[in-house]
Amino acid sequence: MRLAVPKESHPRERRVAATPDSVRKLVALGFDVAVEAGCGAGACLPDAAYSAAGARLEADPVRLYADADLLLKVRPLHDRPDLGRHEGDLLRTGATVVSFVWPAGAHALLDRLAQRGITLFSMDQIPRITRAQKMDALSSMANIAGYRAVIEAAHQFGSFFTGQITAAGKIAPAKVLVIGAGVAGLAALGAAKGMGAVVRAFDTRAAVRDQVKSMGAEFLEVTVTEDGEGGGGYAREMSPAFIAAEMALFRAQAREVDIVITTALIPGRPAPKLWLADMVEAMKPGSVVVDLAAEAGGNCELTVPDEAVVRHGVTIVGFTDLTSRLATTASQLYAQNLVHLLTDFGGAQAMDADARDFRLNGDDDVVRGGLVLRRGELVWPPAARPAPSPESAPASTSPAATGAGSFPAASPAAPALTSKLGVPTIQVVDEVPASARLARDTSSARQSPLTWAMVGLTVVAWLALHYAAGHTGEDPSKATALFLERFTVFVLACFVGWQVVWNVTPALHTPLMSVTNAISGIILLGGILHTNGPPGAAPVVLGVVAVWLATINVAGGFLVTRRMLRMFRK
Ligand code: NAI
Repeated sequence: MRLAVPKESHPRERRVAATPDSVRKLVALGFDVAVEAGCGAGACLPDAAYSAAGARLEADPVRLYADADLLLKVRPLHDRPDLGRHEGDLLRTGATVVSFVWPAGAHALLDRLAQRGITLFSMDQIPRITRAQKMDALSSMANIAGYRAVIEAAHQFGSFFTGQITAAGKIAPAKVLVIGAGVAGLAALGAAKGMGAVVRAFDTRAAVRDQVKSMGAEFLEVTVTEDGEGGGGYAREMSPAFIAAEMALFRAQAREVDIVITTALIPGRPAPKLWLADMVEAMKPGSVVVDLAAEAGGNCELTVPDEAVVRHGVTIVGFTDLTSRLATTASQLYAQNLVHLLTDFGGAQAMDADARDFRLNGDDDVVRGGLVLRRGELVWPPAARPAPSPESAPASTSPAATGAGSFPAASPAAPALTSKLGVPTIQVVDEVPASARLARDTSSARQSPLTWAMVGLTVVAWLALHYAAGHTGEDPSKATALFLERFTVFVLACFVGWQVVWNVTPALHTPLMSVTNAISGIILLGGILHTNGPPGAAPVVLGVVAVWLATINVAGGFLVTRRMLRMFRK
């Protein structure tokens, strides 16, 4: 199956959809890979590296598009000024395209491709579910944009990020405020902190508070209690009372902070206006605002998309190509997301050789979320899944019964997602937030083995005591009494331990467990005391087993603790 990667021809685009490394993996997946000569130049990836990785270099872009069964791109298909034609018109009828699409605002493109029977998969529509993390190109790109926002701010800011005491005087550290602690916001926060700034962050979703704090930043709060969690890790619109309290907080912060990085976004809406003109005016001259949401209308009232402007002595950066400014890494991550997606599809083997088309599973959440056109038919946004009735539930578990490969029509009840500004919007898949799901999954998964382990331990302990009593000629009823006494202590210890651990913030579970492991040396002591007896006796055998298990625990605990501490060392 022929997979093609053209050069991105958008004037501000330097990324590319495949790197030599990803080409090697695509070839291993069974694809016959062709890349346009010079496609990786903007990302410092030479043609020779692509050839060495197994790609065919195609100097004629028209032939590249015409021959492709599957086209991988970064930007949505658009006019190629060098060829004087639209990329969609260069493709053969029925080809498959995978790229960013932003379908809510791309009606003209969808119409054009539908007429040519194209299958179109949109990387920006992959749901943020746990299984799809490795294909989540939005997060990969937002992570880069957040980092780059700090670099742009540092470039515009006239001082150090870190505080310094020099012979010539003392320089205070820069104060950075990050508004919106999603993927981009957390990346910005980490980068600014790493450069030595004092960092504060604000977000409407209470779930990010611990993440912000665990990265060493201060989490700002308002007096109005309202959670902005809207599902799937995205935000929802807040009440006017909350927004008023947020504005008051920002007005107070405006006088203090040197750099503001805004990343706030609500899916399906223009970016909320959070940093108003009077806040810019209140900032110290020389301060910087970097508005990551510029492409969705901007969080700052004075942002000019794609430009850095100075208003009231404050530089406002509204670049929409931040990821492209880190083209090599952005290409690497995006290409890797695509490899994961195609692996998930089943590689070249999943392509129907006669139709030169993917056999896609219409029941798969990733396919349902991302697929926009199926052989020219609009299947986006996907209709909500019908709730399974008790009778139909068992039948629907078999892939054959689910009608794999058939696609529900686009949701007729779906709201018109095109925003008033015609800006890209993100569709939210109605599902339990990944973090919540993870917590629920792990607790239920842990509970049943734990219950079985406790029952098993009880039986083993009871049998061991009776065996020991039989061998030492003791009264078995004494052994039962002893067993009950110790068993009570054991159950109480489990209960108290469970309560203690479960009341600790989940983010701190790993360090807590590693430390408790390290102090489980107490078991070692008990085990060693029991090894004092005739060889082969039950207490001695159990003592040796206890010593062995506790040694693993202690050594492992110290190793993990060391590794975690190393992460915080510079
Ligand atoms: P995200 O959805 O993960 O994060 C957005 C955050 O904003 C969420 O945590 C949400 O709770 C928060 N938020 C929403 N309303 C808020 C309010 N009123 N006050 C405070 N926080 C609020 O989005 P992600 O992936 O982190 O992307 C962030 C932004 O970066 C988006 O606007 C995206 O378009 C932009 N972006 C910009 C690029 C560029 O080159 N300029 C490149 C990539 C992404």
